[in-house]
Amino acid sequence: MSDKNPEAWRNDAYAKVTGKTKYTDDIKFPNMLHGVPVYSDFVHAKIINIGISAASEAEGVVKVITAKDVPGSNKFGQILKDFQIFAEDKIYYNGDVTAFVVAETREHAIAAAGLVKVEAEELPAILDPETAMKKNALIIHEDYGTNIINEHKVRRGDTEKGFSESDIILEEDFSTQYIEHAYMEPETAVCNPRYDGVIEVYGSMQHPFSTRRFVCALLGAKLSDIEIVGTPMGGGFGGKDDTAAIVCARTALAAKLTGRPVKTMYKREWSVRESYKRHPYKVHYKMGLTKDGYIKAVECKIIADGGAYCSVTPWVTWRSTVQCCGPYVVENVHCDTYGVYTNNVVTGAMRGFGSPQMNFVIESMMDIAAGKTGLHPVEIRRRNMVRQNSITITGQKLDNHKVAMEEVLDAVLKEFNYEDKYKKSSHGVTDTDELYGAGFAMSYRGMSLGAEGVDFCSAVINVQADGSILVETGIHENGQGSESAMCILTSEQLGVSLDKIRYRRPSTSVIPDGGTTVASRGTVMGGSAIVLAADKLRKLMTPFAVKKLGCDEDKIIFENDMLSDPAKNKSVKFDEIIKEMYSSRTYPHAMGIFKAPVVTWDEENGQGNAYFSWTYGCQAIELTVNKTTGKVKLLNAIAAHDTGKSVNKVMTQGQFYGGMAMGIGYGLLESLNQKDGIIKSLNFNTYRIPRSTDLPEMKAVIIENVDPNSPSGAKGIGEPTNELMAPAIANAVFNATGKRYFKLPVKITNK
Ligand code: MOS
Repeated sequence: MSDKNPEAWRNDAYAKVTGKTKYTDDIKFPNMLHGVPVYSDFVHAKIINIGISAASEAEGVVKVITAKDVPGSNKFGQILKDFQIFAEDKIYYNGDVTAFVVAETREHAIAAAGLVKVEAEELPAILDPETAMKKNALIIHEDYGTNIINEHKVRRGDTEKGFSESDIILEEDFSTQYIEHAYMEPETAVCNPRYDGVIEVYGSMQHPFSTRRFVCALLGAKLSDIEIVGTPMGGGFGGKDDTAAIVCARTALAAKLTGRPVKTMYKREWSVRESYKRHPYKVHYKMGLTKDGYIKAVECKIIADGGAYCSVTPWVTWRSTVQCCGPYVVENVHCDTYGVYTNNVVTGAMRGFGSPQMNFVIESMMDIAAGKTGLHPVEIRRRNMVRQNSITITGQKLDNHKVAMEEVLDAVLKEFNYEDKYKKSSHGVTDTDELYGAGFAMSYRGMSLGAEGVDFCSAVINVQADGSILVETGIHENGQGSESAMCILTSEQLGVSLDKIRYRRPSTSVIPDGGTTVASRGTVMGGSAIVLAADKLRKLMTPFAVKKLGCDEDKIIFENDMLSDPAKNKSVKFDEIIKEMYSSRTYPHAMGIFKAPVVTWDEENGQGNAYFSWTYGCQAIELTVNKTTGKVKLLNAIAAHDTGKSVNKVMTQGQFYGGMAMGIGYGLLESLNQKDGIIKSLNFNTYRIPRSTDLPEMKAVIIENVDPNSPSGAKGIGEPTNELMAPAIANAVFNATGKRYFKLPVKITNK
């Protein structure tokens, strides 16, 4: 058997730690040109002219591309086709690209970019979504007719009645900030026009198939004429979608127009300026409770700043809507959610996808409610949380999987000695300068896309004549370890050693579109497709083993690189069966297709079985706040999540630690400095992400309730781990200081 430990193995680890991995910027073609984007000083303006003659004549410049050169459609998008890939009639935000300079070297292109002259008539910039929503507001996208991108709602029960039956009514306003994904590798693309007419695209992206749609739209090309090749990437976190796809699209157009390979490699400043961020939210939240702490009604209004383009705002805000009461049973709910255009930087997908904002609100509210009712924060949650067979606020009965809300909560309480820590609270009073506090937060999260999208994925297991195995899926390796997970599942399912298995990174031309690698769906969807492919393959192989071993079909097990009948003590080597299959003209090749169980949604009243399964999580943290300086020191943190089947323990833990660390940035440190639509914090010297020295000791508690709703049994965990630290910190700060913060990031003030 293999010396590879399936509990802690990555197919790409050696290459990555030795620097051998080839990222997009490492890819070079002979005769390659370099592309550079050109911005303007405007935030909202009507374009009069984009003057490119000086730039076109500059040294080394081969072509300066503008909207006029687009053969296909200049406007595209995953939902609304409003994203202009080259600024055309208007500048909608400061990150709009007005021209694209293609030159012999990157230096030549950068020098020439400064010579492009954008003449435009400035328009008033709309920088606040509430202003944008006003009846007489200037319409940003005129042909769309309104600044409201989308609305969602939940209508359940009768909130008026619910509030009238309440003893306590709480009403608060919360706001959250922009978050930059801060992937290590900025947007990069290399496009090669091939002799056969196909344009090959290598790029740092999460979603090869989504990128292909953007490229094809801009070029007016058929899907089969563009081949997006999966390339190792340096981080995504939800952020390598629209912007990354658009960078690929511009580069592909440059390759098409010049007939030469072209590379675009973003500087950090361009990336921060142009790329979409996590949505800032404004949330008005009203909650009614009985004096025993039972929630009777919730009314909330959620406003998300969508920035200049729609991107995936309707999907992000949909999850916020479905999960607007957190993991609590509330019979009377009235929620109105709005995604709104402004002239600020675009906002879109980021790890959590609409849940981090809402969890900060809800879990702060639960602690406030605990204070008002005199109940312990744990007790008030126990009284309201979802349990087996509970009905969610959208009318979904939680009966098709194990509802593990209480299990993860209890795990945190026990493993963290939460009670002792919570009681140690300073409540703002201490002899020393350091105020001590502990806090926690919990959530549930719908698996995969839910009713946002069409959810299916495929995998191919292709066994070679010598018994070695090539595996492919429609899921992209974003750096999270998905390729390794697919190999480990294949190894388990076929009972063969990991040494035999190689992940073959597919291009969009060789595997069917498996949907985007988002929504913590990689192992759930791709992994399930692998399990189904392995099942097909075992069925193909079994008749050959039956013949060889003289046993019944249902007696055969796949184990230790053998097919065996343990009762008869007979075995044959996996490789031998494969050899037999090839010599009798049977391919040991199988494709598995996993279609997610059906979900439902009624837009009118916001009711339906929104997700086919749910995952549960709880996180806690202890900290001190310095009375004089306000400095917060994080001591210890813990996370317990129901991961379903954990395919690779160490990688699962990696998701926990990474998610918690990012959550700490959200809770305490990160804030984009955007003034009048212009981002000032364009690099990490001014945009403060957590450093290793900011992080507390972290503990991961993996709770494995195998999910019966998918063949892999896994539950996505990339996002759940990122959505709870901010409210846990806010609650711990309250526990320490007695002061409640309603705005992220939590900035300690002495007032
Ligand atoms: Mo994501 S934020 O669903 O990549």
